Amino acid sequence: MSSAPREEFGSRLGFILAAAGSAVGIGNMVGFPVAAAKNGGGAFLLIYTLFVFFICLPVMLAEMSIGRHAKKDPLGAYRDISGGESKWKLAGWLAILTPFMIAVFYTVITVWLIGYLIQVAIGNLDVLADPATFGVFINSGDIFAYMLVVAAIVFLILQGGVRQGIEKAAKFLMPALFFMLVALVIFVLTLDNAMEGVKYYLIPDFSKINASVVSAALSQAFFSLSLGMGILITYGSYLSRKNSVPGSARLVALTDTLVAFVAGLLLLPAVFSFNPDTNMADLSDSSVGMIFTFLPKIFLALQTSIGYGAASFVAAVFFLLVFFAAITSLVSIIEVPTAALMDEKGLSRRKALLVLGLGIGALTLAATTSFGMFSFFTEMTHYAGMNKSFFDVLVDVFYDTILPLNGLLVCLFVIYRWKKANFNNALREGDDGYKSSFYEKYVDFSLGTFIPIILLVIFINTVAIKFF
Ligand code: PHE
Repeated sequence: MSSAPREEFGSRLGFILAAAGSAVGIGNMVGFPVAAAKNGGGAFLLIYTLFVFFICLPVMLAEMSIGRHAKKDPLGAYRDISGGESKWKLAGWLAILTPFMIAVFYTVITVWLIGYLIQVAIGNLDVLADPATFGVFINSGDIFAYMLVVAAIVFLILQGGVRQGIEKAAKFLMPALFFMLVALVIFVLTLDNAMEGVKYYLIPDFSKINASVVSAALSQAFFSLSLGMGILITYGSYLSRKNSVPGSARLVALTDTLVAFVAGLLLLPAVFSFNPDTNMADLSDSSVGMIFTFLPKIFLALQTSIGYGAASFVAAVFFLLVFFAAITSLVSIIEVPTAALMDEKGLSRRKALLVLGLGIGALTLAATTSFGMFSFFTEMTHYAGMNKSFFDVLVDVFYDTILPLNGLLVCLFVIYRWKKANFNNALREGDDGYKSSFYEKYVDFSLGTFIPIILLVIFINTVAIKFF
């Protein structure tokens, strides 16, 4: 065990920006706007916001307070609070394995982002706008150079530790991200037909709401807030006992939702000004398809009104924005196994990062090359009877299936193992106003009853759809 006292964030603001940095990611910038536009506009937005505050926020409070109370990585936190019970240690292991695996495919996408950013910057927007480019790009040797760049950036941030690394990076990247986002929104809203996009995005159409839309809204919210990945347990463990968990969590949820909302004001007007007859049903469901094949076309189309150079500049700002969002998320997810190696194995931060760099690096290579570069990784899964790349399998298993399971375990853990009274005492530490508030009663009730039931239903449903 390392003997140095556990590092803490320098301020509550630093914690909020770091946690919001984790939450604001590709899901906000692209996933949310597309889902909203396709599924009832304002109606989706309303349901999504209700889910954020009534279902996701309680889970967020549970995760942050587990971490802040135990002052340990997720495995150590489950173990210490449960008194070493092996079934809860298993939950702890899952909370470390999940981010490790999600880090692999999130790295793959982040690598593509920096690749596109660099290509736009050197004047190749027209090449990227060709729909055939993406397939060539992801199988080109350049990918390995981009991978080294991403690895170096993440390593530099995490090597700095909580205050000098994660917090400092968030304090720069998050305001920069917000500034670029607002600037792009203002620009896009001045384009022809932009208001068509705004209307499409915001006018509620309740007829589109059905069971699968509701479930998609919840999954989107859950994922967007970085729940079920051990991240908020880990970041919570770096929060001073003097700071309020409920107050911070509220601001993180609010920021995340606001950024997703504003990103819609960028994306949909852009899509409509490119083609006012756009049929939303034709938009790709996948964020990857949207970012890497659809949007480059839209940015290139801007050249008719503002010229090629300016269109490339707008595209570059957009890719930089999404890249910033992705980096702060990637940093947060890799910090989970890093903290685990430091807390559980007593490794120094540098050693932990080197071990993880090798492990995540090797798997990322496998995932990156699973699109055809090395047919082995593609065929490996084909032989298992699935027509999927290794990358897709990772998404199905860890994103879609294990996240709700982890969330379910967190709920059961705080209410039935840790117990309400202890959980509430932990939440009140640093926040006197929380005591006996209406929200406190709501959180206790919901975490012990319908939230775990809903998560269980999602889990079973996904398993049934994906694997049977
Ligand atoms: N909240 C992130 C997003 O919206 C999800 C995420 C967080 C993914 C951390 C990976 C790591 O994209």
